[in-house]
Amino acid sequence: MAKYETLDWYETPLLYDIVFEEDTTKEGLFLEQAFERFGRVKRARTPRRVLEPACGSGRLLLEMARRGWRPTGFDLSQPMLDFAGERLRCARLEADLRVARMEAFRFKEKFELAHCLVSTFKYLLDEKSARGHLRAVAEALLPGGIYVLGYHLTWYPWRRCQHERWIGERDGTRVVCNIRSWPPEPGERRERVRSRLVVTTGDQVRRHESSWWFRTYNAKQSKALLAAVPEFEHVATYDFCYDWTRPRDLDDKQLDTMLILRRR
Ligand SMILES: C[S@@+](CC[C@H](N)C(=O)[O-])C[C@H]1O[C@@H](n2cnc3c(N)ncnc32)[C@H](O)[C@@H]1O
Repeated sequence: MAKYETLDWYETPLLYDIVFEEDTTKEGLFLEQAFERFGRVKRARTPRRVLEPACGSGRLLLEMARRGWRPTGFDLSQPMLDFAGERLRCARLEADLRVARMEAFRFKEKFELAHCLVSTFKYLLDEKSARGHLRAVAEALLPGGIYVLGYHLTWYPWRRCQHERWIGERDGTRVVCNIRSWPPEPGERRERVRSRLVVTTGDQVRRHESSWWFRTYNAKQSKALLAAVPEFEHVATYDFCYDWTRPRDLDDKQLDTMLILRRR
């Protein structure tokens, strides 16, 4: 059996970025349109400001900067922030980058829009951290500003592993990413997730794996969390198809969930 070297994949921002680049343009468009449709900020500023907690490799910072927004991103990982900073510099675009934690941060500036996609929010492993995060985002937004929060819900009766495969290629490097998650133990709200990367450059093949825990949510648990943070009004739900003609209900029939929250 092939051997995988254990590696925190946020130490290899380029590989992360190659894998997740595919939907970036669609996501950027969706974020901008979410603000245009649902935002109720009184005085428009130029440029508008967007905050990305846990911005990672900066793929969406770059996308939003290209769309004329002024992005601020923060993350725990210095390699990810360095990569994000370098790509913005290469594109001659600006972003504010900081080291901070999702569960507790405070910035002086105010933002029209904030977003946290690809289940990143589920890194916050307890209710206190999740609430703390939502309150900190609410505090950072202007009244009427929008927070777009995208994550997978868990269907607890399903007792098998889930698999996803992502494939990307850039400048002769091909990355195949297999993500597996294990069902949470009954009554627990943590799922184990593992990503395995097979990285091929010419004749050379490297294999990396990393594992982490995610907090799990079903629709009811998501609603309970939102109810505990009245600073936000839940104004709409979509899925990962980014189709404005197909709003969804927040329920367990659709597990790919994109919440649109508005700062009261
Ligand atoms: C899946 S990546 C998402 C990156 C980016 N938002 C995107 O959409 O591509 C998750 C990021 O969350 C960061 N992260 C995990 N826990 C965090 C925390 N508690 N506070 C800040 N960043 C965190 C990781 O370092 C990583 O860069």
